Amino acid sequence: MSKPRANFVCQACGAAAPKWLGRCPACQAWDSLVEEPAAPAQSAPAASFQLTPLAQARQAQEPRIVTGMGELDRVLGGGLVNGMVVLVGGEPGIGKSTLMLQLAASLSSAGLPILYVSAEESARQVALRAGRLGAHDQSVMLLAETGLEAMLAAWRAGGYRAVIVDSIQAARTSELAGVPGSVGQVRFCAAELAALAKETGAALFLVGHVTKEGSLAGPRVLEHLVDTVLYFESEPSMRLRLLRAVKNRFGATDEVGVFEMTEQGLTQVDNPSAVFLAHRPAEAPGSAVCAAMSGTRPLLVEVQALVSPSGLAMPRRQALGVDPGRLHMLCAVLGIHAGVDLSAHDVFVNVAGGIKLAEPAGDLAVAAAVTSSYRARPLPAGVVCFGEVGLAGELRAVSRTPARLSEAARQGFSQALTAPGKHAKVKGIRLQSATRLDAALELLA
Ligand code: TYD
Ligand code: MG
Repeated sequence: MSKPRANFVCQACGAAAPKWLGRCPACQAWDSLVEEPAAPAQSAPAASFQLTPLAQARQAQEPRIVTGMGELDRVLGGGLVNGMVVLVGGEPGIGKSTLMLQLAASLSSAGLPILYVSAEESARQVALRAGRLGAHDQSVMLLAETGLEAMLAAWRAGGYRAVIVDSIQAARTSELAGVPGSVGQVRFCAAELAALAKETGAALFLVGHVTKEGSLAGPRVLEHLVDTVLYFESEPSMRLRLLRAVKNRFGATDEVGVFEMTEQGLTQVDNPSAVFLAHRPAEAPGSAVCAAMSGTRPLLVEVQALVSPSGLAMPRRQALGVDPGRLHMLCAVLGIHAGVDLSAHDVFVNVAGGIKLAEPAGDLAVAAAVTSSYRARPLPAGVVCFGEVGLAGELRAVSRTPARLSEAARQGFSQALTAPGKHAKVKGIRLQSATRLDAALELLA
């Protein structure tokens, strides 16, 4: 048999080359190619296959295992699916290990056998944290181990329903030469673990560190290999932690799970609207409340704007939490169709709480906040607004109006402003509508 051909893999971006090169042709990193053995060609067995009529396949609904952590279930799309592989990414210190340990405790309290592989911390460290979290459960098995082969053996030896590997960057296989955390190691270890998840039907959670400086290589190379990618992010001023799905084969990706980091670990935030609005200044110009949708959940968020005279030939437009292109468009529409001339003003917009207002329904609130700051006049208290603004200055209706209105009523708002439409009455809310942006701003003045 001929020797399997070596493969040189860039440790920064994962590109492969047939021979060693001083510089990666894909990402231009210097001296990043490392030799990795190519998988030896196996004599292929006669391929067998099984066809399923689509109509029958549809009936086999994936049963879900509810984790008992509502915010996590929400982001996963309703709970765990057998054999699902989830990558949990986030910066070091954000709370990934805490989340995973609480998940393990929650699942095991429902009687499910769980394997927690700690490749970074000793069993003692994990136990100390578990003690702090009040998570001592008999059916969580702890394995402090970095070797992939030992992990796989331990997994095979027990009938686990969920396996957590914290972190995938600390795992290493003896099959490859690279150091733990290198692209080759991470990819090989993750692929082997994922294959065992599919084989045994256990759900697999892989923890992956992502750093601010864009050293994303580790987790990023895994995104195609896993079913679901969750990112854990922080909102430093409020100790909030937002869990987002950026890929999900078993659910939507626009859901956000909201947690708070406390002394007793992560607690779920049941009423995020209240938290996001808690620090809203009363009677301040430049603040508008939008009744937004975050996935399937209505969420009230505060949009803040600051408009200040600019000395620049090209005034600044800066957006946090809204799309910068959308802000540029809204500034132009405000100038042409609503008499709010921003051509000599810098405009800064921020969505409080680190929430991303990705839907066009946020347009009206952004326009209202900008206009309010420009005119130095606060918006009336107790009003929420939502609606898409078109290039002709028209206001367009958006989906899920009843859900948005109900949430506004629940949070104690009494008025709502949006585009006209046939909306059922919501108790406690006086609904106003306008067909054009300038008319809407008039109503808010
Ligand atoms: P950790 O889960 O170790 O983060 P990661 O695995 O993402 O690196 O959590 C790190 C931080 O969370 C740490 O700075 C301490 C804090 N923390 C609390 O505030 N309360 C707690 O109960 C726990 C366990 C951690
Ligand atoms: Mg950790």
